[in-house]
Amino acid sequence: MQKYIIRGGRPLSGEVHISGAKNAAVAIIPAALLVDGVCRIENIPQISDVSVLLKILQQLGANIRFLNRSDVEIDCTHIHTTHVPQGLAHKLRASYYLIGALLGRFGHAEVSMPGGCSFGGVRPIDQHVKGFAAMGAEVHEGDYIVANAAEGRMRGANVYLDVVSVGATMNIMMAAALADGVTVIENAAKEPHIVDLANFLNLMGANIKGAGTDTIRVFGVDSLHGGTYAIIPDQIEAGTYMAAVAAAGGEVLVRGIIPKHMDCITAKLLEMGVEVEEKDDTLLIRRTGPLLRTNIKTLPYPGFPTDMQPQLTAVLSLAQGTSVVTEGVWDNRYRYVGELTRMGAQIRVEGRTAIVEGVNRLTPATVQAFDLRAGAAMVIAALAAAGTSEILNVQYIERGYEDIIGKLRSLGADIESAEYSEQEPVVPRRIG
Ligand code: EPU
Repeated sequence: MQKYIIRGGRPLSGEVHISGAKNAAVAIIPAALLVDGVCRIENIPQISDVSVLLKILQQLGANIRFLNRSDVEIDCTHIHTTHVPQGLAHKLRASYYLIGALLGRFGHAEVSMPGGCSFGGVRPIDQHVKGFAAMGAEVHEGDYIVANAAEGRMRGANVYLDVVSVGATMNIMMAAALADGVTVIENAAKEPHIVDLANFLNLMGANIKGAGTDTIRVFGVDSLHGGTYAIIPDQIEAGTYMAAVAAAGGEVLVRGIIPKHMDCITAKLLEMGVEVEEKDDTLLIRRTGPLLRTNIKTLPYPGFPTDMQPQLTAVLSLAQGTSVVTEGVWDNRYRYVGELTRMGAQIRVEGRTAIVEGVNRLTPATVQAFDLRAGAAMVIAALAAAGTSEILNVQYIERGYEDIIGKLRSLGADIESAEYSEQEPVVPRRIG
C-alpha cells in the first residue's frame, strides 16, 4: 500500500500542465470498441483507471500500441469476445461504458458489475438500463449485466432521462451510434466530456447532433472508421490545482486548459478572494490575502461540479466566516468530512448540506483517502497545514490524477510517496 507524506505550510509557485480529462478518456477508450479500424487517441492521462480499461480492451482482443506517454493506438477490428470478466471490470466505475459500446457494435454484452468510488452509498445505473431497453435490448442484472439487442442490432428510440446522468447519456450515445434509426436523448447531461465523446465518435464517422445541450440526436450509421482524436484537458484536475493554491497560498500558472470549462470554478475562487487571471489556455492563480466565505451548490454542468466539492470544502474550512456547501448531485458525498475535522476543520453535515465554520489554520494528521476527490481534498488540506501529514489509501487518488507527486513537487510542495503495510493502524491518528 502507498501513502503520501506531505510537509505542508509552504506556498506553491510555478507552472503546472494539465493532463487529458479522466472522465472523457474513460468513455472514449471503450468507445473505440465501436470502431472498425485504428483509433489514435492523443492526450490520454496516465492514470490507473486508463491502464485498467486498456487492459480490458486487450483481453477482448484489441491491439493496443503506445506511441509515447500520452498517445495510444487502439485497433478493435478483431474483438473475439463480448464477455468482460470480474477481475478488472470491478476496479472502476467506467466499466459500465463497455456495455453500451459492446451492445452497439455486437448486439451483445456481458459485463461484470462496475466497481469504483462508491462515496459510501449506492450508484444506480437504472437510467442506462432504461435507455438500452428502449432501444430494444433485453437486460439482466446480476453479478454480470447481460444485454442482448433484439435481432442483434440496437434500434433508435426516444429516451427521456429521469435524472441528468453523465454515464447514462454517454452509454446511450455509444449504444446508439451504430443503431438502426435515430435515438433522441432528452434531459441529457451537458458536461464537457459529453461533447468530447460526441466529437470523437463523429470524427470516426458517427452522426451525433446536440451534444452539450439537453437534447442529443444520434442518427445511427452502418460502421465507424479509424482516425486521430485528442482528448480535452481535465477540468477537475485543473480545478484541484487551483484549489491547492487557494488553500496553501502562492502563485501558480495552470497551463493547457479550456478557460470556458473552468468558469464555474473560477467564479467561486474569485468570491473567496483568490485572484484568477485568464490568458489564452492558461489561468494564473494567486492568493495573497485571507480567504473569504462563500456558499456552493453542486449541480450538473454548467453548474458547480460535484467532483470539486470535497476540494473546495477543504479550502472553505480555512475561510473567514461560515460557508454553506450543498451537494446537488450525489446523496452522500461527505464521508471525507470526518477526516478534515481530524485536521482541525469545523464542519457539520446535515443531509446534503455541510456547514463550514472557517478556522485560522489546519493541523497536520494521518488521514485516509476514502475516494478519488476525497483524497484530493486531503492533499489540499495537508498542503495548507504546517507540519507533517500522511494520507493513506492513495491508490484512489492515483486512479484520477496523473503524476500528482511530480506536479506538486514542481510547484515547491514537499510531498513524497512511501510504502506502508496494511497492518498499520487503519484508524487515522493525529501526528505532528
Ligand atoms: N443516477 C441514477 N440512475 C442512473 C445514473 C445516475 O439515479 O442510472 C443518479 C446518481 O445516483 C447521481 C446522479 O444521477 O445522483 C448523477 O450521476 P451520473 O450518472 O451523472 O454519474 P456517473 O456517470 O456515474 C460521472 C463521473 C463522476 C461524477 C458524476 C457527476 C465518470 C466515470 N464518473 O459519474 O466522477 O461525479 O459523473 O458529474 O465519468 C470522479 O471523477 O471523481 C467521479 C466520481
